[in-house]
Amino acid sequence: MVERFYVRVRENPIIGPVFLESLTESREIWGPHEAKIAGFWANAILYERSYDGNPMMVHSGISALKPEMFDVWLDLFADTLRQTLPEPTAAAWEALARRIGRGLRMGVETAQYDPTLPPKF
Ligand code: HEM
Repeated sequence: MVERFYVRVRENPIIGPVFLESLTESREIWGPHEAKIAGFWANAILYERSYDGNPMMVHSGISALKPEMFDVWLDLFADTLRQTLPEPTAAAWEALARRIGRGLRMGVETAQYDPTLPPKF
C-alpha cells in the first residue's frame, strides 16, 4: 500500500515536487522514506514500536508544503487504499489518516502564520 501510494505521489503535479525537493535535499532516497512511513503506520495501527519520529516538526519545517496540499495527499491516499484493500480496512485507515492529517495541517498553518497578512476566511 505504502509503495503504491508513493509511486502515485511521485506522479502528482501538486505534491510530487514537494517530496522531490525535500528528499533529494536530504539525500534520502525513496526506499528509506517508504520504510520509515511503513514503520509509522505499523506503529499507529498495529501498535508496533516501529517509529519514534516527530511528523509535526518535520512537516512544519517544509516551507514548500502549503496547507491546502493536505487535501490532495489525503484524497490520493484514500483512493490508493481502496485500490489495494477491502472496504472496511480501507475506511478505517482513511479515517485515521484524515485525523492525523488535520493535526499536521494545523501545525503547518501555525508554522506558516504571518500576522502581517490579511486573515483567510
Ligand atoms: C501535502 C501533504 C504532505 C506532504 C507534501 C508531505 C511531505 C513529506 C516529506 C517531504 C517528508 C520527508 C521529510 C524528510 O525526510 O526530509 C515527509 C515525512 C513524513 N510524512 Fe508527510 N507529507 C504530507 C502529509 C502527510 C500526512 C497527512 C501524513 C500522515 C497521515 C504524513 C506522514 C509523514 C511521516 C510519518 C513522515 C516521516 C517523518 C520523520 O522523518 O520522522 N505526511 N512528509
